[in-house]
Amino acid sequence: MSERIALVTGAAGFVGSHLSERLIAEGWRVRGVDCFTTYYDPSIKERNLSRLHREPRFTLERADLRETALEPLMQGVDTVWHLAAQAGVRASWGAEFQTYTSINVNATQRLLECAKATRPRALVYASSSSVYGEAPVFPAVEGGALRPISPYGVTKLAGEHLVSLYARAYGVPGCSLRYFTVYGPRQRPDMGFHKFFRAIFTGQELPIYGDGTQTRDFTFIDDITEANLRAAQSGRPGDAYNVSGGSRVQLLDVIRAMAAAAGRPAKLNFLPKQAGDPANTGGDSSLARQVIGYRPEVSLETGLGRMAAWMQRFLEGSPE
Ligand SMILES: NC(=O)c1ccc[n+]([C@@H]2O[C@H](COP(=O)([O-])OP(=O)(O)OC[C@H]3O[C@@H](n4cnc5c(N)ncnc54)[C@H](O)[C@@H]3O)[C@@H](O)[C@H]2O)c1
Repeated sequence: MSERIALVTGAAGFVGSHLSERLIAEGWRVRGVDCFTTYYDPSIKERNLSRLHREPRFTLERADLRETALEPLMQGVDTVWHLAAQAGVRASWGAEFQTYTSINVNATQRLLECAKATRPRALVYASSSSVYGEAPVFPAVEGGALRPISPYGVTKLAGEHLVSLYARAYGVPGCSLRYFTVYGPRQRPDMGFHKFFRAIFTGQELPIYGDGTQTRDFTFIDDITEANLRAAQSGRPGDAYNVSGGSRVQLLDVIRAMAAAAGRPAKLNFLPKQAGDPANTGGDSSLARQVIGYRPEVSLETGLGRMAAWMQRFLEGSPE
């Protein structure tokens, strides 16, 4: 059997680099695409790719999905995992919104138009729990109200709608995964756990927005990559599935667990709550369990231990 080709957009990012490594391990040929946006230090993205660069079945196109010719990238592709995005809730207000719409909405639409012609077997879109906003029901279910409370969430929801629209109108077999706060090695430097571990290891204060009683549903990166593989296998076109870690935890409790994993104390600095930050996020992933057979496997304790070990290496500048 000839090797299947995967197109992973955003392959140099946190989730994209892990997914690409997993696909290589599963025997795929991976065509990664990334334009190394400056949302955070691009040298971190280069580092994310260090293992992949040693893989003969991995190739990287340094291209911007907003303008590059997509047909050559999509030629012969079995499955598209579309992860490229402008991420982050806090930076999505004001003039920056234009970057969010051009990447998260316009580039997604370009990719779907191309998929209409090249007809991949499956397409999996990285959506976000931020489509729910302040969900009135806990844990959030897919059929519940979708009222984002950040401009970022609005663009991720628009991307999801485009995926289901192209499935309905043109038979592009795409589905969406709503990730709930992903953590683990290579987590983006603007994200909470990255900042917290960095602060713990360097003896700095940890910025806590609000009083620390906000709850989050944290999902370990390996569970997210597993869900991505499963969605490509058995996701139903047009569907969206919650992918959550299965345990809702208060931020202050998480910080205690992080300090234990790092073996060092945490100094807290309480700051005002930020606009667009929901008080609680929690997702019910029963639908994903039913349809794609997803079950989170990695406990918070195990996941934090693995992230602490990585953060130590990262701060020392040692290889991945
Ligand atoms: N990390 C999380 O907790 C989380 C939660 C919910 C949803 N998501 C979604 O998962 C996906 C991956 O998130 P991440 O945390 O790995 O982010 P990331 O920023 O680390 O990765 C995204 C990558 O996409 C690339 N990119 C952006 N615009 C591009 C363009 N126009 N052309 C080519 N490449 C482009 C960036 O350079 C980056 O390497 C995103 O779609 C994000 O919205 C992430």
